[in-house]
Formats: sequence, C-alpha cells, structure tokens
Amino acid sequence: MTDLPKIELHHHLEGAAPPALIRDMARARNLDISRIFDAEGAYYYADFLQFLDIYEAACSALKTPEDYARLTAAVLEETAAEGVIYLETFLSPDFCGGCDLSAWVEHLEAIREAAERAEGDGILLRATVTCIRHLGPDRAREAARCAAETAGDFVVGFGMAGDERRGRLRDFAYAFDMAREAGLGLTVHAGEWSGPASVREALSDLRVDRIGHGVRAIEDPGLVEHLAETGTVLEVCPGSNVALGLYPSLAAHPIDRLRRAGVKLTVSTDDPPFFHTTMRREYARLAETFGWEDSDFAAMNWVALDAAFCDAETRAKLK
Ligand code: ADE
Ligand code: ZN
Repeated sequence: MTDLPKIELHHHLEGAAPPALIRDMARARNLDISRIFDAEGAYYYADFLQFLDIYEAACSALKTPEDYARLTAAVLEETAAEGVIYLETFLSPDFCGGCDLSAWVEHLEAIREAAERAEGDGILLRATVTCIRHLGPDRAREAARCAAETAGDFVVGFGMAGDERRGRLRDFAYAFDMAREAGLGLTVHAGEWSGPASVREALSDLRVDRIGHGVRAIEDPGLVEHLAETGTVLEVCPGSNVALGLYPSLAAHPIDRLRRAGVKLTVSTDDPPFFHTTMRREYARLAETFGWEDSDFAAMNWVALDAAFCDAETRAKLK
C-alpha cells in the first residue's frame, strides 16, 4: 500500500524544507536561528504556537527566488520518492517577497521552473497561494491579489493557514471573494485548533471548496452528516495532528470515524520534517492502526484527484 501512486493536497512548501537546507542557508547569511533546532539538528518546538514561531524563523532563511528554486528541487525529489505523483503545495506571498507583486512573480517563476525540471521524476506540482490568518485581513487581501494576478495552470488555489484562534473568518471574505472571482479553488485551515463552529463558518462565510484539517467536525454529529451529504473534502493530516498534540495517538484520531460516517477525505503530511513524517509513513500507520487496505487507499486517492484544484486536462493525465 505504501507503493501506491499518491495524490497529496495539504502540504506547505517551506514546511517541507529539510532542516539541513535551512541551516545551510541561515549560515550563509550569518543568520542565527539555532534556537529552532534540537541537539540532533531536527526542528524543535513544544506546542503549536512555538511551531508557528519556529516555522516563521525557518522561512526567514529563505530569501531569494534562487533559494526557493533550491528548496523546490529538494522537496520534490523527496516527495517523488514517496510515490507522490501530484502535489498541491501552499505558497505564501508573505514569505516570497513580502506580498510585493513583482517580487512574488519572480519567486513564483523560480518555483515553477524548478517544478518543471522535476517532472522527469514523475511528480507534478501545483500551487495554492496561502495567506496567514494571524497577519490579519489587510495582509490577506494583498496575498489574494498576488494569487489573482498569477492564477492559471500553475497557481490553482487560494487558502489560509496560521493561527486559527485569531480573528473572525468573515473578515477574510473579501480576500476569498477576490480569489474565487479569479477562478481559484478555495480551502482554509479550520477545525484544527478551533472546534466544529470554525468548519461551519469556513463553509458559510468563505464558501470554500475543501477544508484543511477539519477533523474537529467529529465533535458535532450534525456537521459530520452535512459534510457527508455535501461531499465536502477534508484534507486530513493525521501525523501533524498527533505531533502537535491535538490527539494523543493515531488510535485516538477521528480519521477512521469520519471516513466510516461517509465524509470524503484525503491524507497529507502538512509539514513533513517538522512532524517526522512522510506519505509512506502516514499510509503505513493508518494501515497498522485502522486496518485500511490497498483498496481503501486507492479509493482515497480517487477522492483526492477529484478534489484537486488543477484543470481537467491535468487531472485526465493523472488518471
Ligand atoms: N502552517 C503550516 N502548518 C500549519 C498548520 N498545521 N496549521 C496552521 N498553519 C500552518
Ligand atoms: Zn497546513
């Protein structure tokens, strides 16, 4: 089952940066970010807020379009080796040039060119531009403008990550409306650090197509039923949720209960080196813990392909 071709929809490019690459880049720039690593050189954090803090510190080592090209090549090599054939990654204009449109375009081109070079390894990359919730709605609007100006065959979606407990979703509606009008697929991190009400708000106030995480929907049976009826797809990242302490173990994670309730879901890594995970490891642990079989993983990948934000032509090539 770990050898199956995989579709991964919830993945942050910077969050997939190998720690050694970030350390090298920081050293080359005389940037002291040693606090983000443990004694073994792995990323170190004690809780979600510290994770967000060290994540941003790691991003501070990535500056130029060339840095992003190097990052993209390294990440795609590792991800292709996991059997991933289609990857939708979150890219943030806040980190790629500080939401300045011309800097964003330069970073994006470098990433796209690196992705084209990696296609020979059998992996196709598409981008979901993401704003960062705790930076507020004005900044989100700038990120949406970057997304709308570059929407096309490579930039296919718009989303929001960051601290879900900050701000109200409806204040971000303008940014999401702009992205929707540009033809982008929409997703938002919800139902991870806030409860089921945040998933309901994402659907009503931002009218998103998919939900990033969404697992705390399990706390509201009416919402679970609604998700199943509407076929709303959850981008579930079990290893991330366990590593960040949302659930004490995979056995306690609601993924299997959601699936049995008829909710459409996909499995992703989120930020693999931060959570000591890979797609193969996610699949192996789900098989071990819940007895999922090859046919279950294959069905889940069809759901993921259907829910991907790429155009129909690209989707057809992957079938
Ligand atoms: N940014 C990167 N990973 C994230 C996560 N799991 N939740 C919110 N924001 C993130
Ligand atoms: Zn995420």
